[in-house]
Amino acid sequence: MQVISEVAPLRDQISQWQKAAKRIAFVPTMGNLHQGHLTLVRKAREQGDVVAVSIFVNPMQFDRADDLANYPRSLDEDLTKLREEGVDLVFTPMADNLYPQGLDAHTIVEVPSLSSMLEGASRPGHFRGVATVVTKLFNLVQPSVVCFGEKDFQQLAVIRKMVADMAMPIEIIGVPTVRESDGLAMSSRNNNLTVDERQRAPVLAKTMRWMSAQMRNGRRDLDDLIEDAHDQLRAAGLKPDEFYIRDASSLAQISEESRQAVILVAAYLGNIRLIDNLTVELHRTADKADKAETSAH
Ligand code: PAF
Repeated sequence: MQVISEVAPLRDQISQWQKAAKRIAFVPTMGNLHQGHLTLVRKAREQGDVVAVSIFVNPMQFDRADDLANYPRSLDEDLTKLREEGVDLVFTPMADNLYPQGLDAHTIVEVPSLSSMLEGASRPGHFRGVATVVTKLFNLVQPSVVCFGEKDFQQLAVIRKMVADMAMPIEIIGVPTVRESDGLAMSSRNNNLTVDERQRAPVLAKTMRWMSAQMRNGRRDLDDLIEDAHDQLRAAGLKPDEFYIRDASSLAQISEESRQAVILVAAYLGNIRLIDNLTVELHRTADKADKAETSAH
């Protein structure tokens, strides 16, 4: 496995692969790898002749200096895991390699609307930072296919739109969230939870499952449903930050036409902000009723 931190040798290796007509599959990460990331790597392995992974804690997507400073980093362990997965190349740039003139002087990529709603509204500049670094990484690695986790639901929507709008010749694959046995979505940030916080964290997923069941049973007073969910999180000692129920394909408000909703949640446990999401089939109850009616005729 090659580990490269400079741009020039990365470009050399990529051009060799291109000459050999290798299909490059890519997994961009910020490191501190867990099973969720390794699932992305395995998916990438199925998709490409060669697999490249990047590890870069991107300062441009952090809106708080303390969050950037405290983001967990474990490069040696990450490299061991990636070696075991048979990854071909790991790109580990420093901020100077990607932003040689500093963040403020760098060209930015802005995906309108999707970037400023929901999580983008409470973390201004976050999705601009993601879109900018992902574009740069795509230009460097030149992948045919890239795997992203569905855990970052809005990020995936932003990247899909960016790739479509900019006609990037790249296939984006969303990979379902990997969960711990108690339902907690795997996240690098989980490592920063205290033992007590870790025990309380699964309430996030549990509350979303409860909401999903309510909606599938026809409940549509979504504002009240979110209020009830807030109460459940607060009772477990979490501080809800954002809670939305949106159309899963557009992230717009739910309408009569919406087939699938997505519950998006962000909540604080102590200082740690956890995010999660769950999609809900909205017409399941109605579809079942339709089928029952059809078969009765
Ligand atoms: O999802 C992440 O880990 C990051 O947002 C990404 C896509 C690697 C960009 O820095």
